[in-house]
Amino acid sequence: MKIDCLRNKVALVTGARRGIGRAVAVTFAGAGADVVVCDAVVDDGKLKETEDTVEKQGRGSLAVQADISLRNEVEKMTRQAIEAFGKIDILVNCAGVWIPGQTLLECSDESWDVVMNTNLKGTFLCCREVGRQMIAQRRGCIINLSSQVGLDPAMGAGAYSTSKAGILMLTRQLAQEMAEFGVRVNALAPGIVKTDFNADFWKEPEMEKEASGMVPLNRLAETEDVAQAALFLASDASSYITGEVLCINGGWRPTSSVASREDA
Ligand SMILES: NC(=O)c1ccc[n+]([C@@H]2O[C@H](COP(=O)([O-])OP(=O)(O)OC[C@H]3O[C@@H](n4cnc5c(N)ncnc54)[C@H](O)[C@@H]3O)[C@@H](O)[C@H]2O)c1
Repeated sequence: MKIDCLRNKVALVTGARRGIGRAVAVTFAGAGADVVVCDAVVDDGKLKETEDTVEKQGRGSLAVQADISLRNEVEKMTRQAIEAFGKIDILVNCAGVWIPGQTLLECSDESWDVVMNTNLKGTFLCCREVGRQMIAQRRGCIINLSSQVGLDPAMGAGAYSTSKAGILMLTRQLAQEMAEFGVRVNALAPGIVKTDFNADFWKEPEMEKEASGMVPLNRLAETEDVAQAALFLASDASSYITGEVLCINGGWRPTSSVASREDA
């Protein structure tokens, strides 16, 4: 891929306040894109920091507060992006939530609704709203964040794994519907990535060592590992790929972690 493979492109990244969304926004700016950065949370100043980091790379940016589970906020976010930059070439749906430790049988109605409304409905709302703009443009690229646990069940994932499996079918369905308009839709399925989302896996060195031991490549993913995969899917280097899921898991599958616990 060329260093400036996203030159003249406009990207919208949800969940860009921290973690994977932030890394995607900064990486895309480094490749030449202007980036609209969105998140539900703005009070801690971190979304503004992402916006500033994009601008320091000489690219345009705009920070927008939006809860992706609410249609009117998604519509407003999309309008603001188009007003600022005139188009949206790339959408990366990173906003997501996980309520750790629940089995599905323990999952309350409230937990189910929070996870589904953010991860699955929110991703759908963003795809639908921004997708309409991309269809009008006759060009676009959507990248949805699924997860390895959207492909393989994992203990304690609760409603999360079901929501991430839904994102895979959403991706494949939209890829079929939007292909004739020149819009590609793909998904990323990370394994365990070191973010605040799952700090319990890596905040203590011993915990990180144990978690890394479940991964054939013997380390947890950094946010940059995911951002580079997103860059590939956003660039013309992947121009013949749509409806696919790219796993970024170091060879890890949740079933192998169950096996290694049993072996121990
Ligand atoms: N970290 C991992 O190990 C991992 C693995 C697989 C998939 N993922 C997925 O990658 C994505 C990013 O994960 P992360 O680790 O960076 O998480 P994170 O918690 O660090 O960042 C997620 C961001 O999304 C925002 N957000 C949450 N709900 C929102 C809503 N309703 N509207 C708008 N913004 C909202 C949060 O405020 C936060 O800034 C998520 O979809 C997650 O499910 C993460």
